[in-house]
Amino acid sequence: MIITVASFKGGVGKTTTAIHLAAFLQGQAKTLLIDADPNRSALSWAQRGELPFPVVDEWQVDQLHNHYHHVVIDTQARPTQADLATLVSHCHLLVLPTTPDILALDALVLTVNHLQQLPAPQYQILLTAIPPHPSRAGDEVRSLLQSAHLPTFARGIRRYAAFQKAAQAGVPVYGIQDPKAEAAWQDYKAVGQEILTRLHP
Ligand SMILES: Nc1ncnc2c1ncn2[C@@H]1O[C@H](COP(=O)(O)OP(=O)(O)O)[C@@H](O)[C@H]1O
Ligand SMILES: [Mg+2]
Repeated sequence: MIITVASFKGGVGKTTTAIHLAAFLQGQAKTLLIDADPNRSALSWAQRGELPFPVVDEWQVDQLHNHYHHVVIDTQARPTQADLATLVSHCHLLVLPTTPDILALDALVLTVNHLQQLPAPQYQILLTAIPPHPSRAGDEVRSLLQSAHLPTFARGIRRYAAFQKAAQAGVPVYGIQDPKAEAAWQDYKAVGQEILTRLHP
């Protein structure tokens, strides 16, 4: 299956999400990560260390993608309406990460408005970098999304410095020495399971 990670705002965890969903899917079947962001953040992540799946740019896709069971696509922020339409028509699920803050939510509303003009968009919102208690930002944004009937993953991704260490080391978060590495990985594993249940019930 093809999963695309997109958003109108940068810095909401797209690349972190693409890397960890690919790591999860690789545990199920051969997975390829396509870095379609001109910033090449996912490729740089891979070059700094070692990932359990290949990362390629969009130019290398043609020869490759038939050999993989799953493909995850990381994209740049601010796709045009045309980009978004193409992304939606070529993937099974569009994952829209958002951090629980007002600027990210404004961007999310914009994305969802665009999506609703497309035929039967298959998308799901993922809350990322959720701050720990006593902050209630995660819960507040979740209930906001629920009351707007926007499809949202049941599991959110908590804010852990372990994710930044993983990016620096060029590995998935389970590959670093950090007391929270396992908890951080469990968040993405749970989201990966939700995707499998949704797409292969
Ligand atoms: N769950 C998280 N907890 C803590 N930091 C995070 C988390 N997700 C992403 N980050 C950090 O936030 C920054 C932006 O994340 P990134 O995945 O590059 O977003 P995008 O691809 O949307 O620009 C990076 O420094 C990354 O390490
Ligand atoms: Mg990115």
